[in-house]
Amino acid sequence: MKTKIFEPTENNIKKAGEIIRSGGLVAFPTETVFGLGADAFNADAVGRVYEAKGRPSDNPMIVHVAEAEELEKLTDSIGHRLKKLTDAFWPGPLTVVVRKKDIVPDRTTGGLKTVAVRNPESIIARRLIEASGTPIAAPSANISGRPSPTKTEHVIHDLSGKIDAVISGPDCRVGIESTVIDMSDDRPMILRPGIITPGDIARVLGEGVALDPTLKERPTKEEMKNQRSFRPKAPGMKYKHYAPMAEMIIFEGDPTAVRIRIDEVRKEQEEKGRKVGVILFGQSAFREAAHDLFADLRRFDEEETDLILAGALTEKDGVGFAVMNRMLKSAGYHVVHV
Ligand code: TXA
Ligand code: MG
Repeated sequence: MKTKIFEPTENNIKKAGEIIRSGGLVAFPTETVFGLGADAFNADAVGRVYEAKGRPSDNPMIVHVAEAEELEKLTDSIGHRLKKLTDAFWPGPLTVVVRKKDIVPDRTTGGLKTVAVRNPESIIARRLIEASGTPIAAPSANISGRPSPTKTEHVIHDLSGKIDAVISGPDCRVGIESTVIDMSDDRPMILRPGIITPGDIARVLGEGVALDPTLKERPTKEEMKNQRSFRPKAPGMKYKHYAPMAEMIIFEGDPTAVRIRIDEVRKEQEEKGRKVGVILFGQSAFREAAHDLFADLRRFDEEETDLILAGALTEKDGVGFAVMNRMLKSAGYHVVHV
């Protein structure tokens, strides 16, 4: 299959919408990362998304809507707390998990009775959903397990020849995926951290918000493999993820000691002839870290880096915590304490 590359013009977005409507796959930019879209109500089309990504079929998709009101098409249970969140954060990088209506195919939700819904801020994404005339199911537009795509070229690298079209766009503003919050139970719970933080959400709800306990865990290799003790509520959070080709190690501890140690290990490994990459984000410029992380990981792959040495982000539950969550997965939880 030849993948078309569309500049984001009105006419091209219309064509892309027709592709979605007739069951095809179109990748498109959002403010977080690029998504790989299909008609959320078409189980066969959604099946092709799993195939193109090589994604396990128990890992549900996020359904994207053009307007907040369209949430009603997907769920009957819109309580006052949910309304507060969508009023405050939509359109934007927040995904809400709610009980699904029967019209949402099991394929789309990986067999779950709930559906994840997001109203993206990106104008290109919203125009595409409108042009398709249907909500769009879209996971991140990467091969499963690889870093999420934040540039058009990342999508082309991973999916060219496997999907119908890519709408090109500017680099994604946020750079990590949306915050996912489960609103299907009595107690709201964050399943995946993002740039909308627990503090932001608590302020809007007027009450504290729980974190999926596995977000604070550091599973061993064994625990990740047998997955009996490590069971995050969002199926996607259990897989090895965001992984560069290179081995990656995170160094945690006093920031200066970490820099010294990384420099020592770098020199030592370079003497052995290994190509080493270093990731050292500032301990306060977390938005910048979010913006750069996945692109850095992919650049290291292109440069055929053998080993990536990264400094831990120490923030407890804000944007830094969300970036650190991705870094830990990229490194397969390989952390060295300095
Ligand atoms: O920013 C984003 O959210 C991007 C853009 C494209 O919108 N999308 C994205 O999708 O990151 P994906 O498929 O890569 O990640 C979706 C996450 C997975 O961890 C999945 O398991 C979880 O959301 N999820 C989806 N539906 C769920 C549900 N019904 N219950 C619990 N977790 C769910
Ligand atoms: Mg993903």
